Amino acid sequence: MKQNIAILCSGGDVSGMNPALKRFVEYAYAKGMQPYFVRNGYEGLIDNQITPASYRDVSGIITRGGTKIGSARSKRFMEPAFRSLAAENLKSHGIDKLVVLGGDGSFRGMERFYHESGIAFCGIPSTIDNDINGTDYCLGVDTALGVIKEAIDQIRDTASSFHRAFVIETMGRNCGYLALISAITSGAEMCLIPEIPIDIHEYTDCYRSQIEKGRDYFIAIVSEALNSNEVSQWFEKELGFESRVTVLGHIQRGGNPSVYDRLMAYKFVTYAIDALIEGQNHFIICYNKSHFNFKTIDEVALHPYQLDEELLTLAREQFLPSHCQM
Ligand code: F6P
Repeated sequence: MKQNIAILCSGGDVSGMNPALKRFVEYAYAKGMQPYFVRNGYEGLIDNQITPASYRDVSGIITRGGTKIGSARSKRFMEPAFRSLAAENLKSHGIDKLVVLGGDGSFRGMERFYHESGIAFCGIPSTIDNDINGTDYCLGVDTALGVIKEAIDQIRDTASSFHRAFVIETMGRNCGYLALISAITSGAEMCLIPEIPIDIHEYTDCYRSQIEKGRDYFIAIVSEALNSNEVSQWFEKELGFESRVTVLGHIQRGGNPSVYDRLMAYKFVTYAIDALIEGQNHFIICYNKSHFNFKTIDEVALHPYQLDEELLTLAREQFLPSHCQM
């Protein structure tokens, strides 16, 4: 009899989920399994939105952001009674293996579910924030960085023509990864992230001197954990520079998945299915120093994510006011 395996997306969607779904269906079939989709994350597990998936379901989706099967943040799944309903639903379809695209919160829920139900799972780190401990890369971050790069490049066109300071706010929740990589790769003058506390008043003398020497616009990248309006007001009051705030918002979550995210989706899913077939039963597949490895939930969820120390050192050299070139 065919083995059944299901996939679901939980938490914030990312570009890369659709390529992952396509690979999931095709590789499950290649391995002689019947693939299933669970719609709308853990909500769909609870409400039995579980259906067999076919090639038709994934045809043409590789170019699309978001996720064809929907995602959700489920409060109900935190309650044992709903988890038990979810387990019954999966078992009624003969499914005992699950691939979960999501973040560490989703994996923690899944770990509890595994211990209660025995349903095996593999978590694939998926979040544009790239803030899951234990993996250098989370699915979707590359596309998000590409979207941010495009936006900053376009804002630079108007900033340079109109001699303004632009404060551009990126997503990332409490993690400065998106802001920092974007600031470095877009040539921004300022980058404010929670990991590197900076008193912007310390920039005043340096920026005044730069303005005297001809600098006539600024790009400041600010992580959403900090206050971009305050930064904008500082440019106006302290430097007399007309300023605008652009909150990039949810455009960062969409867009045609990048080549890298497509490739990583393909590899993540392949290794996940292989490991589930081999009998691994509750693990997260991570990517470190160009290698895939399997980690326990404790390894990824017990400690908060920390930005890479080398990156932080570069960022300090580039963005600390004490390094500002007059
Ligand atoms: O975790 C992904 C993320 O896009 C964060 O960067 C952001 O803080 C949050 O989700 C936004 O959540 P929502 O889509 O619920 O507004």
